[in-house]
Amino acid sequence: DWSAGSVIEEQVTLIRERVGDKHVICGLSGGVDSSVAAALVHKAVGDQLTCVFVDHGLLRDGEAEQVEQDFVASTGVRLLVVDARERFLNALAGVGDPEDKRKIIGREFIRVFEQAARDVVGEAAADGHPVEFLVQGTLYPDVVESGGGTGTANIKSHHNVGGLPDDLQFALIEPLRDLFKDEVRKVGLELGVPESIVWRQPFPGPGLGIRIVGEVTAENLATLRAADAIARHELTAAGLDREIWQCPVVLLADVRSVGVQGDGRTYGHPIVLRPVSSEDAMTADWTRLPYDVLARISGRITNEVDGVNRVTLDVTSKPPGTIEWE
Ligand code: XMP
Repeated sequence: DWSAGSVIEEQVTLIRERVGDKHVICGLSGGVDSSVAAALVHKAVGDQLTCVFVDHGLLRDGEAEQVEQDFVASTGVRLLVVDARERFLNALAGVGDPEDKRKIIGREFIRVFEQAARDVVGEAAADGHPVEFLVQGTLYPDVVESGGGTGTANIKSHHNVGGLPDDLQFALIEPLRDLFKDEVRKVGLELGVPESIVWRQPFPGPGLGIRIVGEVTAENLATLRAADAIARHELTAAGLDREIWQCPVVLLADVRSVGVQGDGRTYGHPIVLRPVSSEDAMTADWTRLPYDVLARISGRITNEVDGVNRVTLDVTSKPPGTIEWE
């Protein structure tokens, strides 16, 4: 019979046998899969695992803290945090095209992760423990989609780009490759991974970088982060999290409209709410959110977020619209 406990027990034994006294590295994104995979490997080999979290500055309010504090506190993993926020902002300066943004974010992510991996490899080797394994949060549906092969060389990041250079070769540990998402959540809960991570809705690797229509600047990020935090708070308070597949909040930084706030005319940016219902993100319908929840979100965002004077609702299904705006 399937139980989270027996999956954990079985994997712990397998991972211990395979890893021996070698060292293991894992990239954490803040998402469910990499977090649960890391927690499982940590249970098996403890401090022989080093996790790397690249903070690209494109996460939502509180998410970096969830990884740096909550995840570490609940699992005890050894975590290397790379603060790359400035680097990503500099690389994205002046860039408005969505594909260019994606490419830049993916490229910078790989470069930063690679350097961190080299640092970990160097340190572990100095202690006499070569790093031979890389943990990946591959799930069963990913295995089926990619033809079922098991990899040894390439890292498939959450940006779905790139590979590590030849001198950084790892064998993959994929402890979740027989599991579906709901099973991964059960395993995560059993391992004590924080609920805020276990129940996190899908969030794209390029993060808020592809939810700003226009240039990714520190100011635009702060504006979007504030609006997004309000929308998420109100949706959670209304008990709608499990009903909604995900709800991108998008800042139209390239668009301005006239408004009136207080005694004066404003010329601010619109925020778009994009709540969707879906089974697998391949197709989606826009979620019919209750009007009073929409009213609260709209009222709070326009009152509390500087520079935003309008909130709009995206009522497009997928197809023709994608879930994300970029
Ligand atoms: P679209 O916008 O194509 O999104 O309808 C489908 C699902 O994929 C997520 N998404 C991404 N996830 N890296 C990711 O890891 C990406 O570059 C990326 N782009 C979109 C999106 O949030 C939705 O769940």
